[in-house]
Amino acid sequence: MSAQAVQLDELIDRYPAKPEYLIFLLQDIQAAYGYISPEAMDRVCDHAGVPKSRAYSVATFYQSFSLKPKGEHKIRVCMGTACHLKGAQRLADAVERKLGIKPDETSPDLKFSLEAVHCLGACAMAPVVVVDDEYHAGATPGKLDKLLDNVARD
Ligand code: FES
Repeated sequence: MSAQAVQLDELIDRYPAKPEYLIFLLQDIQAAYGYISPEAMDRVCDHAGVPKSRAYSVATFYQSFSLKPKGEHKIRVCMGTACHLKGAQRLADAVERKLGIKPDETSPDLKFSLEAVHCLGACAMAPVVVVDDEYHAGATPGKLDKLLDNVARD
């Protein structure tokens, strides 16, 4: 059994084997691994005695759960109206050119994930890109390119 499988079992065994603990189990797995893998979902369902259909509908209902691995660094490009008018699409295109990923995708090396989001409430700073929770105002493809190089080096 792999070290990750052992860790997963330890995490799951912290909760009583009852269906009402499903969300807690999913939350802990999401926090530990950044997503809920099919293997983790199987183990949770076996442990809690919950049908897979129910567990998947819970995991897809809440935005805080992901069924796909996420990158180490999260890039959010705001596509709200103010940002859109100031070139947000060019920023998303720049990320796609540089990393080969579109919104909701993760780079194959699991370094970056890209999300296109609605207004971030910082329209005066448009266009806005948020990388690892840090806001970057007046983003341009050139600035974003350098920023991603710096983040990748850290
Ligand atoms: S539209 Fe981008 S921050 Fe409001």
